[in-house]
Amino acid sequence: KRHLLSAADLSRTDAELVLETAAEMLALADRPIKKLPALRGRTVVNLFFEDSTRTRISFEAAAKRLSADVINFAAKGSSISKGESLKDTALTLEAMGADAVVIRHGASGAPHRLAHSGWVHSSVVNAGDGTHEHPTQALLDAFTMWRHLGNLDGRRVAIVGDVLHSRVARSNALLLQTLGAEVTLVSPPTLVPVGVEAWGVETSYDLDAVLPKADVVMMLRVQRERMQGGFFPTPREYSRRYGLDARRMATLQDHTIVMHPGPMVRGMEITADVADSDRSVIVEQVTNGVAVRMAVLYLLLSSDSQEDTSL
Ligand code: CP
Repeated sequence: KRHLLSAADLSRTDAELVLETAAEMLALADRPIKKLPALRGRTVVNLFFEDSTRTRISFEAAAKRLSADVINFAAKGSSISKGESLKDTALTLEAMGADAVVIRHGASGAPHRLAHSGWVHSSVVNAGDGTHEHPTQALLDAFTMWRHLGNLDGRRVAIVGDVLHSRVARSNALLLQTLGAEVTLVSPPTLVPVGVEAWGVETSYDLDAVLPKADVVMMLRVQRERMQGGFFPTPREYSRRYGLDARRMATLQDHTIVMHPGPMVRGMEITADVADSDRSVIVEQVTNGVAVRMAVLYLLLSSDSQEDTSL
């Protein structure tokens, strides 16, 4: 079975195949009939143990546009609240004949556990696990950059904010380097992950120094729900040092785009005028997310390969 668990599993050839396939899927969105019969008879289960708006809806839209049957499972309202384990939930899905399981879970590593446990025989797609990875977000972000900037070789991407709690930052750092980009993580000293040296990226505490050199500025949400023991620095201090506002936006190069994976906390990491500005591609990221997830499901499920591998 083939899975998509980590951006690190994707070679440059794999990643470019996803981006090229996504471009074909995006072109379909302009046709009067958007649906393709490619995954007719296949079943995709969306298994969401953590809240989501964009990822859950776009996987559902992607699967439906490929004519797959979709089962949406949210932990809230399920037997998880009665203490059912991931294993028993997985065995239930297996009994219902899932071909792909798209899983979001609060525990880092849960998708790997599902893929390699033997509980299910489906393809497993990581839709965000704890503070670990969110590979389809990185793919849709790379796709969005690719459409605006072309080849990413040598392009400078600044990823700014709460890197410590960000699965988006890790997956992007891995994938963007695979695609030839230079990544700089900008965050307060209190929000730098342990072991960031292994990511192979530049790091900085000085947003104003990084912005004028960037081709892409990706703002991250401050994940207060993952911060035990309060929020440091204070929200006001954070916005002053690490928020993207109109004054800072004016220091960007003309071609530089502003991204955010969502959900945004307007007024914290990004001001409303920046989020809604011409430089912002945040809504486009959401549109591209459907095309990229169509590409991922198509490449995982339409192949006859039974090798135990990624994409
Ligand atoms: N970017 C992202 O994962 O958003 P959701 O949490 O709404 O899915």
